Amino acid sequence: MHLFPATTDRPRRIRLAACFALLTGGMLAAGLSHAQGNGAREWRSPPPGDVQRGATLYQARCSACHAVDSNKIGPAHRGVLGRRVGSLKGYTYSDEMAQSRLRWTPQTLNAWLQDPEELVTGQRMGFQVDDLQERADLIAYLATLK
Ligand code: HEC
Repeated sequence: MHLFPATTDRPRRIRLAACFALLTGGMLAAGLSHAQGNGAREWRSPPPGDVQRGATLYQARCSACHAVDSNKIGPAHRGVLGRRVGSLKGYTYSDEMAQSRLRWTPQTLNAWLQDPEELVTGQRMGFQVDDLQERADLIAYLATLK
């Protein structure tokens, strides 16, 4: 027994198939562009760092603006690893930092030190560390500030 007359059966199937192809194609395209978008913002893990070298670098490069336990031009650094970006009470961040929803991990710190503006557009730290190993050493040191 035919549910549909043979003449309308075929176009209906074709329409369904076309619909399905569009749907999966669209989902695939969305998935791909999403993956590409993430790739561009992918945070690289720093290599293992040396705490001693990091402490020396911190003194030389960061202490003009930062201290471990007090806010200067930049916020205090004790407990920075694991804390929400722009969240230390008593320090007035740029709006962009205060509104960021990121958290400080070795990966986000690496991205920040490499190019703060790339991580948080509109931020106010005009300083960056180009060398990957130096960033890793600094991050290893920051991780000891509990
Ligand atoms: C010229 C001054 C200056 C120097 C040098 C500097 N910073 Fe900063 N830093 C800032 C300012 C200002 C902010 C706050 C940015 C904002 O609110 O937009 C900041 C923010 C940060 C934050 C975010 C902390 C938080 O509470 O969210 C980290 C981490 C940081 N700096 C690490 C470093 C390290 C590590 C160095 C040395 C390699 C360094 N900074 C050198 C001025 C500086």
